[in-house]
Amino acid sequence: DTAKPQIITGKAKLAGVLGWPVAHSRSPVLHNYWLRRYGVDGAYVPLPVEPDAFVAAVLGLQAAGFRGANVTIPHKEAAFKIADVLDHSAQRAGAVNTLVFEDDGKIHGYSTDGAGFVASMEAAGLNPPKQAQALLLGAGGAARSVAAALQDCGLRVAVTNRTQGRAEELAKALPGLDVVPWNAWEQRLGTFSLLVNTTSLGMEGGPDAAFRPSLAHAGKELVVADIVYVPRITPLLAEAQSAGLHTLGGLGMLLHQARLGFQKWYGVNPEVDAATEAFVQESF
Ligand code: ATR
Repeated sequence: DTAKPQIITGKAKLAGVLGWPVAHSRSPVLHNYWLRRYGVDGAYVPLPVEPDAFVAAVLGLQAAGFRGANVTIPHKEAAFKIADVLDHSAQRAGAVNTLVFEDDGKIHGYSTDGAGFVASMEAAGLNPPKQAQALLLGAGGAARSVAAALQDCGLRVAVTNRTQGRAEELAKALPGLDVVPWNAWEQRLGTFSLLVNTTSLGMEGGPDAAFRPSLAHAGKELVVADIVYVPRITPLLAEAQSAGLHTLGGLGMLLHQARLGFQKWYGVNPEVDAATEAFVQESF
């Protein structure tokens, strides 16, 4: 019952999100929603930390008895470096978004973004067939974690990026990754069964909020996904919907990537359902 006041006792389990800036993060709303829903004696707080202070902040949280933390922009690579033990997901992503302070003093690092994306697809009933080909727009950190997770599910993955060199760098980190030239991807769309925008194109306040590429060459089975979640329906998703294609917005990835940390810190495997989605959506 979310109307009940949240009680934080002397034994409360503590976690938070390190970012700079961090005020835009939806993670505090989500984790505190789950804490109340599951009656956990705990708290989750925003932690604005400048890059220079990141290591001191992490060691300080650990010294203060925190269970761990999420890490967002610009700290995901620094979190990768500070972790003593890197999960397979973190090694593949080259980044860490979830830190867990274990009882033996070791810091464990995970990257849950890619798995969160895959879980949100599955939850929406949009499981792409194995051997399917996916095309990702972008070659940044988000692209790497989604590409790695899709490859780990058995999909063949290609990336296309405005700056081709970055796409080629990514292909070195993730063997088997194909690179498609940025000026050719719209024409080649017919080869793919999944398109994922991992850039900030289409985001409110982003570099090009009106980003609406042509899907004229898409096959009719194409699933179009966006990791942008503000607005909920990006121009790309609107274009896909008007072409009669299945679409997936970015909110599900945000919710699903959070589950592992919550489970590790607070001991409950939280559910992502319509109520969770509505609660976080209303916080925008
Ligand atoms: P993240 O780690 O969140 O993925 P990032 O590393 O800054 O963030 O990557 C942003 C992605 O959006 C990149 O693929 C970037 O393309 P470049 O590598 O060419 O910079 C892409 N991007 C940002 N603004 C863009 C724009 N106006 N047009 C095309 N791509 C853009």
